[in-house]
Amino acid sequence: MFDILLLLHLLGATIWTGGHLVLSLVVLPGVLRRRSAGELLRFESGYEKIGIPALLVQVITGIMLAWRMVPDVARWFSFDGSVSQLVGIKLLLLLVTAVFAVDARLRIIPNLSENNLVALAWHVIPVTIISVLFVIVGVSFRTGWFY
Ligand code: HEM
Repeated sequence: MFDILLLLHLLGATIWTGGHLVLSLVVLPGVLRRRSAGELLRFESGYEKIGIPALLVQVITGIMLAWRMVPDVARWFSFDGSVSQLVGIKLLLLLVTAVFAVDARLRIIPNLSENNLVALAWHVIPVTIISVLFVIVGVSFRTGWFY
């Protein structure tokens, strides 16, 4: 069971983090250069079909992996310097990602034009950085970098 959870978690990570790196490093610079909101919306509508399920898989498998590792849920939020604090950090990263995503989806994307592309870029770039932090914190469960 653990193997399957870890496999799904890592597959989801490749899609979520990989997709955001392609978006930030390849798609976004071209979109900003050409001021082409349509190009960004096209990528977005294709990517979100697997990006959102991937994030859901991350949350579900992540919580199951965390439960297995630290069964006492109160410790997830204790930031006590042990491995359990990594779970708290991951949940904080998830919260910040959700705030950026909801703001982009409700406030920026419905009125996307060449005038507010930069505002969207200021959402895409932090979410991409956070997606990489998810991986770094994830690897830290084994390496002990952050506890
Ligand atoms: C997009 C979001 C996420 C990404 C990209 C991500 C990525 C990763 C990666 C790369 C690992 C390393 C796996 C390994 O050691 O082989 C990992 C481990 C882990 N992640 Fe995530 N993660 C995400 C979200 C979450 C969430 C929301 C939780 C829940 C709190 C979570 C909990 C865990 C746990 C507990 C492990 C350790 C698994 C183990 O080695 O036993 N992750 N994650």
